[in-house]
Amino acid sequence: MADSSSDETCPEREWETPPDSFVEQANVAAADRDAFEERGWPGCWSVAADLLDWDRPFDAVLDDEGATRWFPGGRLNASYNCVDRHVEAGRGDETAITWEGKLGETRAYSYRELAGEVNAFAAALRELGVGEGDVVTLYLPMIPELPVAMLACARIGAPHSVVFAGFSADALATRLSGADSEYLVTCDGYYRRGTAIDLKRRADNACVSADHDVEQVVVNRLEDDRPVGDHHAYADLVAEHEGATVDPVSRGADDLLFYIYTSGTTGEPTLVRHTTGGYLTHVAWTSHAVLDLGPDDTHWCSADVGWITGHSYAVYGPLALGATTVLYEGTPDHPETDRLWEIIERNGVDVFYTAPTSIRAFMKWGEEHPEGHDLSSLRLLGSVGEPIDETAWHWYRDHVGDGDCPVVDTWWQTETGGIVLSTLPGVDRMRPGAVGKSLPGVETAVVDELGERVAAGEAGQLVVTRPWPGMARSLCEGAGWGARRTRTADGEWHYETGDNAVRDDDGYLHLLGRADDVVKVSDRRLSTTEIESAIVGVEGVAEAAVVVGADETAVQTSEIHAFVSPESNVAGDQTLRERVRDAVQEAIGPIAVPDVVTFAPSLPKTRSGKVVRRYLAAIASGEDLGDTSALRNPDVVGELESLVDR
Ligand code: PRX
Repeated sequence: MADSSSDETCPEREWETPPDSFVEQANVAAADRDAFEERGWPGCWSVAADLLDWDRPFDAVLDDEGATRWFPGGRLNASYNCVDRHVEAGRGDETAITWEGKLGETRAYSYRELAGEVNAFAAALRELGVGEGDVVTLYLPMIPELPVAMLACARIGAPHSVVFAGFSADALATRLSGADSEYLVTCDGYYRRGTAIDLKRRADNACVSADHDVEQVVVNRLEDDRPVGDHHAYADLVAEHEGATVDPVSRGADDLLFYIYTSGTTGEPTLVRHTTGGYLTHVAWTSHAVLDLGPDDTHWCSADVGWITGHSYAVYGPLALGATTVLYEGTPDHPETDRLWEIIERNGVDVFYTAPTSIRAFMKWGEEHPEGHDLSSLRLLGSVGEPIDETAWHWYRDHVGDGDCPVVDTWWQTETGGIVLSTLPGVDRMRPGAVGKSLPGVETAVVDELGERVAAGEAGQLVVTRPWPGMARSLCEGAGWGARRTRTADGEWHYETGDNAVRDDDGYLHLLGRADDVVKVSDRRLSTTEIESAIVGVEGVAEAAVVVGADETAVQTSEIHAFVSPESNVAGDQTLRERVRDAVQEAIGPIAVPDVVTFAPSLPKTRSGKVVRRYLAAIASGEDLGDTSALRNPDVVGELESLVDR
C-alpha cells in the first residue's frame, strides 16, 4: 500500500494509505471530520462531549473569560460513564476488563461485575471516611483492583493519585505528602519475572515518612494470607459491602478527577491535575477517533496504569466507550518471548497500543514470534511515548499487523491528558517517521525562542496555541494559560510542550526529542535533575550530571549515564558507585538507577560555569564531540571519553 508520491520536504519518506476495509468501518470518516471542523473551535468539542452522558448539560463549551474551563455548568460522573450506563444499555454481560496475571492466571469482569465491585469498594471508602474532594493514593501493580479503585474514587468524587508500583518508599512518601492524601490503597506484593516483590514494606516505610497519618487498605495479591496488621483488607471490605449501591456523585465538569505526578524540569516531581469533564471528553473522543474503539472491541494498551497512558487508554477511554480492556501484569518476555502474541491471539485483541521501545525489543527477539500466532483479529496498531522510526513502523505493521493494519503514531503528554497529534486512521494518510497532524479541534505551532512561528522544514519548539479539553488543570492557572508559556509579540499565550519538532509542508510533525531535562528511558518519563539531586545528596559527591545515551548492546534503547565528580579527597571507586546507585534507587526507584556511573575529575563547563550536557550525551552515546573550544575546560571531555566504564 505504499504510495511513492513524495513531496519536497521529505522526499525520502513514503506515504502509506489505510486499507479500504479499515476506512469503510472507521468511527470517523472524512465527512465526520469535516462536520466536526465546520463547527469551528471550541464548539467542535461539543461533538466529543456528546460521547458522554451528562447529568446536567453544560452552558458553554469553553468559558468566555479565561478560556480555560471546559464545559462550564456541565455535571457528570466518570464512574457512571465508564460502568453504569453500559449496564443500563443492556450490556451488563459484556466483558469490561480481562486480566492476565503474572503467573498465567486470568480473570474477567463483566460490566455488571465491575459495577458490583466498584459500588462495594466505593461504599467501603465512604465508610472509612473518604469524602468528596479527599485524595486517595493508589500504589498498586497491574491488577484489576487498580481500575476498580480508580472508578470507586471517581464514583464518590474523591480524586485518585496513582503512584507507579516501581517507585520507592521515598517517592511514595513525597507523593502522599504533596497531595495531602490520607488514604492509601496498596497490596502485599506483586510478581516481577516470577519473583515476589514486597510492596507492603515499601508502603509502610512511606507512611512512616509521610507528614501525616495515612489509613491503608491492602489487597492480597500474593495470596499467602499474610496478616494486614492494623490495616483494612481489600477483600474483607468488598465482601462486607457486597450488593451496596452508591449513587454516583454528580461532579462539576471542572472538578478534579485525578492527580498524577510526573517528572518535570526541577528536582522535585511535578503534580498534574486532570478534570472530570474536559479530560473524560478528550480521552473518550480520541479513543473513538484515533484508536477507533467501540463497544465491540477488545483493546490492549500495554502501558502500566501507573503512568498517564494507562489512565487514559487502558482505563478511562476504552471503558467510557464500553469496550473490553486488557490488563497484563507481566513482562513481554516472560515466561517466553511470544507472551504478548499469545495474549492477543487468545483474547482476539482488535487494537493494540504500545511504545516504540517495546517494538524495538520485539524486533530484536525476531519476527517468528508474532508470526507464530494468529493475530488476524488486529485491525489497528498504535504507538506512543517516543518517536517511532520508519524501520520500526514498517516492522510493526508488517509482522504484527500482517502488512495491512494502519499504524497510528500518537503524540501527547501527561499534561495534555490525551492524544494531541496523530493521524485519523479512517481519513488520513500515514507517513512513517512523522507523527501526523494536530487533531481536529487542536492547534499547534513550531516556534523559535521568541515564540514566533518558524517556516515549514525548520526546527523549533512545539507549542499548543489554543486550549483543548484534556489540558491539565494546572495549565489553566495564573495569567493566560499554560504553566509553561510564552507570550508572543502579539500578546498570545502558548503552552510550551518542551519538545522540539519540525513541521513539513503537509502539516505533518516530526518530533525531534525534548528540549529540556525530561528524558524517556524505556518509555518512562524521568527528570535528569531529579536523579542528579539524589546523587549530589551522597556524601563525598561534589557534582553530578545525568544524560541519556544509546545502549550499543541493544537495539536503539537508551540508558542512563551519570557523570559524577567526587570531592577532592574522595575516591571514585566501586563503593561510591554503589552508594550513588543506592541513593537513586531509594529516592526514586529502580527505574531511575544509572546504568553507567563515570567518575569525572570535573564536568565540562562553559566559561560562565554551566555544565554542558550535550558533550556528556555525545560521550555516553559514543558520538563525535565536534568543536569543544567554547568550553572553559575542553581537555576534560577527552579525558572523560576514556573514563566511561560500561
Ligand atoms: O517527548 C514527548 C514524548 O513523551 C513525552 C511525554 O511523556 P509522558 O508525559 O510520560 O506522556 C506519555 C504519554 C504520551 C513527550 O513530551 N512522546 C510521547 N509520545 C510521542 C513522544 N515523542 C515522539 N513521538 C510520540 N508519539
